[in-house]
Amino acid sequence: MKETTTDVTTRLLDACLGKPVDATPIWLMRQAGRYLPEYRALREKLSFIEMCHRPDVAAEVTLQPLARYELDGAVIFADILLPLEGMGIGFHFDSHDGPVIERTVRAAADLDGVHVGDPGTDTPYVLEAVRLVVRELAGKVPVIGFAGAPFTLASYVIEGGHSRNYADVKRLMLAEPSTFARLMALLADTVVAHLLAQVEAGAQVLQLFDSWVGALGPGDYERFAAPHTRRVLEAVSGRGVPVIHFACGASGMLAQVRAAGGDVVGVDWRIDLDRARDELGDGVAVQGNLDPAALLGPPGELERHAADVLRRARGRPGHVFNLGHGVLPSTPPDAVARLVELVHEWNPEG
Ligand code: CP3
Repeated sequence: MKETTTDVTTRLLDACLGKPVDATPIWLMRQAGRYLPEYRALREKLSFIEMCHRPDVAAEVTLQPLARYELDGAVIFADILLPLEGMGIGFHFDSHDGPVIERTVRAAADLDGVHVGDPGTDTPYVLEAVRLVVRELAGKVPVIGFAGAPFTLASYVIEGGHSRNYADVKRLMLAEPSTFARLMALLADTVVAHLLAQVEAGAQVLQLFDSWVGALGPGDYERFAAPHTRRVLEAVSGRGVPVIHFACGASGMLAQVRAAGGDVVGVDWRIDLDRARDELGDGVAVQGNLDPAALLGPPGELERHAADVLRRARGRPGHVFNLGHGVLPSTPPDAVARLVELVHEWNPEG
C-alpha cells in the first residue's frame, strides 16, 4: 500500500480530482440491475418505471450491489429518460424494444408545448431516493447522481427509441439546425436543473452520460453537441462535486470531449487507457475502461483484461476504474466480486 491520507470514503472523490489514493476506486455503470438475482426478484413484482417511481425501492436497488461488493460509489437507481416526462415528452418502456417516445420531435412544430423541466415537481422520487441512500450509507461511500447529455437525450426524443444509424437525428441537425438547437437547449437546461437538484439532495459525484455521441464525427460533435454539453458542465462545475463526463464511442475525438468539460472523462474500451490519457493530457482524470464482456469470460481472461487496464493506468493518480459501458444482464455476479477484489488489490509497482 502506498502511504496516503485517503480512505474508502474519499477514494472515489480523490481519484476524480487527481489526488493520490490508497487503492484504485471502482464502481460500475449499471451496477444495479438485471444481472443481480435480488434485482430480478423485485422486478418480477414491479415494472422498471414503478421501481424508479418508488423511492424506497429505488434506494433498495441502489444499495443491492453495495451489499455484495466493496464498491467505491453508489450510483442512484433511476434513468436518464425520466426527466423527459416533465418536459412534455412522454415515454414508456416496452419489454422488447426498450424505451419508446410517445411523440417524437422531427420538426419545429413538434416543440410546441415542450418546456424546461423542474426536478422538484417532475421527479421528486429520484431526489427522495438520493436522500434515502445518503442517509443509509452515512458517508461510507459517495452517492453518484447522473443525467443524460443533451445529444444522447435528443437522440431518443428524435428517433423515438433505439437507433442503428441515427438518421433522423442527423437529418434534423443538418436540415433544421435551429429546431435541433432549440431542443438541445431545452434538454441542457433541464439536465442542469436535475443535476443540481441531486447535489442538493446529497449526491457527491455527478456523471453525465453521453452514451450515443459516438454516432457523430468530431466536426459535427464540435458544432452541434459540444456547445450544449459545455453549457451543462459549466453550470454544474465549481460546486465541490466532481463531474464525470462519459462519452461512449468517442475515442476518435477525446480532445473535443475533454474541451467540453468535466473533472473526469469516461472512456469506452475501444481505446487503450494509456493512449486515452495521452490524448486527454494533464489536468483531467480518466474513468474506464474494461470491456463489459470481459466479465463473461473465464476468470483468467477477466484477470488479463483488468490487469491490462490497470497496467496502462501506470499508477498515476486520477484513475477511476469502471467498465467502458454498462454491466451486461448476462454477467455472473461472482465475476463482479472478482473484479472488485482485483482492482483494490492491484499493486502498481508489482
Ligand atoms: O447504472 C446504474 O446502475 C444506475 C441505473 C441506471 C439505469 N439506466 C437503470 C436501468 C442508469 C445510470 C441508466 C442510464 C441510462 N438509461 C442510459 C445511459 C447509460 C448507458 O447505458 O449508456 C441510457 C442510454 C438509458 C436508457 C435506457 N434505460 C435504455 C436504453 C434501457 C433499455 C435497455 C436495457 O438495458 O434494458 C433502459 C432500461 C433500464 N435502465 C434498465 C435499468 C436497470 C433495465 C430495466 C429492466 O429491468 O427491464
